[in-house]
Amino acid sequence: MNNLEDKNIKLSASILNLKTIEVHSRLAELKGLVDYIHIDTMDGVFVPNKTEALEWFKNAKRTENIPLDVHLMVENPLSVVPDYNGASIITFHLEAIINPRTMTVDMEMFYALASLIRSMGAKVGIAIKPNTTISLLRNILKKVDLVLVMTVEPGFGGQKLIPATLVKIEKVREMGFDGILEVDGGITTENAIECINRGADMIVAGTAIFTAEDPYDSAWKIKQK
Ligand code: DX5
Ligand code: ZN
Repeated sequence: MNNLEDKNIKLSASILNLKTIEVHSRLAELKGLVDYIHIDTMDGVFVPNKTEALEWFKNAKRTENIPLDVHLMVENPLSVVPDYNGASIITFHLEAIINPRTMTVDMEMFYALASLIRSMGAKVGIAIKPNTTISLLRNILKKVDLVLVMTVEPGFGGQKLIPATLVKIEKVREMGFDGILEVDGGITTENAIECINRGADMIVAGTAIFTAEDPYDSAWKIKQK
């Protein structure tokens, strides 16, 4: 069935668990179903894992003709954003711009990041971890192009989706957000529809596609085609 095609769900393929050398052929197998390449930048401080994301980014920029969706899981996003010139979307974490003294969003930092990202021609995304309250997004929802709802604790691919995070998708929509709503972590051919029904329109998937027996079929199902 492809009567849901007009929902126009975007698939962002996470290459976190692929070897650089196989990225091109694994993406080619998916024959046009991949709308973005999701690049996970981890600094070993914000999350307990470190990635060679800049290498993946440079490599993908050189060899793929697919827009790049950069997810910054780093403590100091301002210092790394310039490295990702050429990305279509750059997403930083809400938790990285919370002032620890007031426990509110550091708006000065937010504006600095948003204007830097826009000056590079990319869309601005804000990501939120499973245990962070979404009311902290209130002042910035109208100022971003994308909200990324983490459906696992950031840090590693191959985790199981935390069901309690799903309600966040609806809540972000109820708050009036009409931009791109991306979900990331543990998305499968089975649970993607739940995310979509709640208001997500961009799905990150790594494990569910790249470890599947038939990756093309899984990507197709995740997009609900
Ligand atoms: C987790 C990363 C995700 C991860 C998704 O911290 O942000 O992007 O790679 O991979 P899967 O689909 O394996 O959960
Ligand atoms: Zn990610």
